[in-house]
Amino acid sequence: MPKAVYPGSFDPATNGHVDIIERAAELFQEVVVAVAVNSSKAPMFTSEERVDMLREVCAHLPNVRADSFNGLLVDFVASQGASVVVKGLRAVSDFEYELQQALMNRIMREGVETVFFMTSPENLFLSSSMVKEIARLGGDVGQFVPAQVHARLEQKLR
Ligand code: PNS
Repeated sequence: MPKAVYPGSFDPATNGHVDIIERAAELFQEVVVAVAVNSSKAPMFTSEERVDMLREVCAHLPNVRADSFNGLLVDFVASQGASVVVKGLRAVSDFEYELQQALMNRIMREGVETVFFMTSPENLFLSSSMVKEIARLGGDVGQFVPAQVHARLEQKLR
């Protein structure tokens, strides 16, 4: 069974991310959840905070670990001895961007395959940006994120 890397901003991790991680952990020998440090987005949480939160929410999964990376995803994948990139797909609107990235990654490093997990229906419209917006505006995001993330969001916005 190959080793997989699940990359993203995870700013912060949502129930949708955890669902993908749990399902990927069933299929792969090991899953490295990888926080991209140099993402162009201005994050709410530092990369250290995002990795910490992922470690907390994945503590029940023995073959999952969280880390951060700088630079190209394909270089990080190789450095981990992995050959698979895991991504989650929600609506069709995700598809074009994800296809572009998957193809570019495979051109840059032959042998790196991207495997897509279809979202669970309850997470179809869930995104980290939506969670942050609702939380900033005083809404309750408790049903969209793990309890540990919920607590960190409340702390951050207090
Ligand atoms: O959660 P996101 O923001 O959709 O994740 C995007 C991410 C981090 C997976 C993507 O931006 C990425 O792979 N960044 C690393 C830099 C890189 O390799 N860029 C070229 C991709 S073709």
